Amino acid sequence: MNKTELGIGVIGAGRIGTLRANMACKHPSVQFLAISDIDPDKSGLLAQRVGADFASSSNSAVISHPEVTSVIVSTPEHEHVAPILEALHLGKPVFVEKPLALTIADTDLLVEAADETGVELRIGYSRRHDRRWMLAKEQISQGRLGTVLGIQSRVYNTRSHMAEILKRSPEATPVLDALTYYVDMACWYLEDNKPIEVIARGQSKVYKEMGYDIHDVTWAIITFENGALVNLGICYALPAKYPTYGQSAKFEVLGDEGVILLDVDNKDSFLFTERGVPHAYVPDHEVTALFLQTNSSGDWAQGEYWGPIANETRSWLDHLATGSPCSHTTIREGRRTVEVTLAIEEAARTGRVVTLSGR
Ligand SMILES: NC(=O)c1ccc[n+]([C@@H]2O[C@H](COP(=O)([O-])OP(=O)(O)OC[C@H]3O[C@@H](n4cnc5c(N)ncnc54)[C@H](O)[C@@H]3O)[C@@H](O)[C@H]2O)c1
Repeated sequence: MNKTELGIGVIGAGRIGTLRANMACKHPSVQFLAISDIDPDKSGLLAQRVGADFASSSNSAVISHPEVTSVIVSTPEHEHVAPILEALHLGKPVFVEKPLALTIADTDLLVEAADETGVELRIGYSRRHDRRWMLAKEQISQGRLGTVLGIQSRVYNTRSHMAEILKRSPEATPVLDALTYYVDMACWYLEDNKPIEVIARGQSKVYKEMGYDIHDVTWAIITFENGALVNLGICYALPAKYPTYGQSAKFEVLGDEGVILLDVDNKDSFLFTERGVPHAYVPDHEVTALFLQTNSSGDWAQGEYWGPIANETRSWLDHLATGSPCSHTTIREGRRTVEVTLAIEEAARTGRVVTLSGR
């Protein structure tokens, strides 16, 4: 079987860029790996740890490197646009972390560039690559639910986790940064049935007292063009030491011939230790009690990374190397999700019904 040799450029050597580089350096088709970070210590250190071939503090030096055939953009949310545009214009496929961008103007710049260049651009909504959600998608595709009438989902996380997100990206909100996974999932499950209208309410006490203009709790109802109703909610203000390392979720899909109930609070995997466990995402944060598997990107165990980010990265590299189909969010889906999350924020802020473009 013919396999294309890959040269991968990872832009951003933070938490997620580190995972992507770890997966890329082990993939059999990857013959060249380059890493950039605005902080040269970070790119240099990660390159050394994974045995990369090239490291730089210049994104352009990596993106335009002749050995780099494809780019992974793992910079903070508000720093996605420039490296994506540069790679697309050089004809190099891009995989970018969610969300595509934080404004519709930036999102449309990326859609236009992808259309104009014809170069593939996909978005890393790694929840899709959690086995539970992937299997649910398969059952829906097989028609086992009949017509999907509605979806209900909610996700919780701690205020300590949200504080880390705000440190790297002050414009991010729980809705734009985390509920976005569930908007992506609902739209993926409802396929070509487009979201047309959003109502939402938000409540803030915890974050207001901390000086942030974001909601503690947001509940939204999204109506789709065939009448399907999607109810999504988020609270990223749980007490700092609630025993989770990431997202605690429920996701329920209601069809006229079947139903899927995903219980992803992970209360069935419980650890208590008087020695304390460090948090994978929040530095200097230790708990004695923990629901295992709550890190939604995955976990290190026995020297390997297990979980959605590992599956998602491997599947993307397989796709580039072999042309195999992949389930990563497309540019059109990514745009739709950004529009819906911005509409949820607007509806929650104004109390008004927000009509979507139907794109
Ligand atoms: N799929 C998932 O499970 C998942 C989980 C967490 C975060 N994310 C997404 O991954 C992205 C990065 O998040 P993170 O947690 O790795 O953040 P991070 O802060 O740990 O890492 C970001 C890195 O980018 C570098 N950087 C900042 N601006 C840059 C620029 N202009 N050019 C090059 N490097 C730059 C920083 O120095 C830092 O090393 C975000 O889009 C986030 O939403 C995805």
